[in-house]
Amino acid sequence: MKRWLLPSVLSADFAHLAASVQAVAAAGADMFHIDVMDGHFVPNLTMGPGIARTVASLTDLGLDVHLMVARPEDWVEPFIKAGARAVSFHVEATPHCHRLLTRIRELGARAGLALNPGTPVSCLEAALEFADYVLVMTVNPGFPGQTFIPAGLEKIRLLRSLAEARGYEFAIEVDGGIKEHNIHEARDAGAHWFVVGSGIFRAADPAAMTRRLKEILNA
Ligand code: DX5
Ligand code: ZN
Repeated sequence: MKRWLLPSVLSADFAHLAASVQAVAAAGADMFHIDVMDGHFVPNLTMGPGIARTVASLTDLGLDVHLMVARPEDWVEPFIKAGARAVSFHVEATPHCHRLLTRIRELGARAGLALNPGTPVSCLEAALEFADYVLVMTVNPGFPGQTFIPAGLEKIRLLRSLAEARGYEFAIEVDGGIKEHNIHEARDAGAHWFVVGSGIFRAADPAAMTRRLKEILNA
């Protein structure tokens, strides 16, 4: 499976959103990550489907929407209509993982399960065969710019071995605190999709950093 770099738009320069997004797209980003927070599931409020639609209109790269919300059932359809090609929701936020994964696929997007740092892989094991990807959080969801929690690496390795043992083909996404100095650890643990927010958009030159991170992923 190819390794993808997904800049998180939450850390982009919103005063110059088009230029900010298009610069990293031209530098080799593979998809854009959209962090949706509702002030209930996490203590922060971010973007709705309107902003996702605006970002989708700025680039041909797909949008990967990360729902950090209570009642994710309510938000899957509006974000897919806004242009999301992949949607993940937290297993901690719904008792109906299987139903929601199925719904996302029916609506034509890839379906992902997301896991907080304190939630074990065993919580999503039964739903794995219905998922296109699993998002392993390496910070507690809520804010960009937090410090990477290395315990996520063990979960990535465990997911890799579960996939191999059972013949599943889901991608593994890693999200939170990924920077130039540690992205190789997530790569070597077996992740496929790498979300980077502040590590790209707070770098002196976001396009140059995008190229640098792609180099590390392709090494
Ligand atoms: C955290 C979000 C992340 C975050 C990434 O709640 O899910 O996607 O914005 O930002 P960095 O890379 O700065 O941790
Ligand atoms: Zn995210």
